[in-house]
Amino acid sequence: PAAVIVAIDGPSGTGKSSTSKAVAAKLGLRYLDTGAQYRAITWWMLSNGVDVNDPAAVATAAAKPTIVSGTDPGSPAITVDGADAAGPIRTREVTAAVSAVSAVPEVRARLTELQRQIARAGRGIVVEGRDIGTTVLPDADLKIFLTASPEARAARRSGELKGKEATGLAATREALIKRDAADSGRKVSPLAKADDAHEVDTTELTLEQVVECVVTLVETTA
Ligand code: C5P
Repeated sequence: PAAVIVAIDGPSGTGKSSTSKAVAAKLGLRYLDTGAQYRAITWWMLSNGVDVNDPAAVATAAAKPTIVSGTDPGSPAITVDGADAAGPIRTREVTAAVSAVSAVPEVRARLTELQRQIARAGRGIVVEGRDIGTTVLPDADLKIFLTASPEARAARRSGELKGKEATGLAATREALIKRDAADSGRKVSPLAKADDAHEVDTTELTLEQVVECVVTLVETTA
């Protein structure tokens, strides 16, 4: 399946990124993390004094930064106006602000266009996000929607943050639930499962099992 297009959506902490990178590496496909792009534009807004809670200000600024995404699943690079953004986009400040920025239609229009360009620009790709199967690539060959219990998601997310920005499990769970509610409730392309997506509940599965499941789906359906 060398030219296959795979869309992987779902809320935070379901293992989207780990799964998507591993599936892409296994199948020799490119990889695109669309959440990193929303984080990158948010980082630029915060760094340039744009009030992220003012949708009009965010809309005006949306076209300004140049965002370039690498597509190597082994080292997913992202730059903003030429500066390496891989580290700064993972801070708590960016995580807290990203849902407000990504709800602004001008931001979504711009990044959706960029994502479609990248998907078209080469052979097969695994694209992960919230609205890939519903909006960005509705014609994807295979659509996956990952879910997991809130407890499992909070535990995974707090494991990722360990050492970096350790917060309590309860606080992580709160922040995650708040972000998912904002992402699911926004007007423009909310987090949603496409009608033709395969739902995979990862609560009781290891990463290896989820990857195996998705690879099998690619090989049998796409
Ligand atoms: O996947 P990640 O947690 O890095 O995504 C960060 C945020 O970017 C999400 O909470 C959501 O607000 C936004 N996002 C989006 N649409 C996508 C991918 C991410 O709105 N396709």
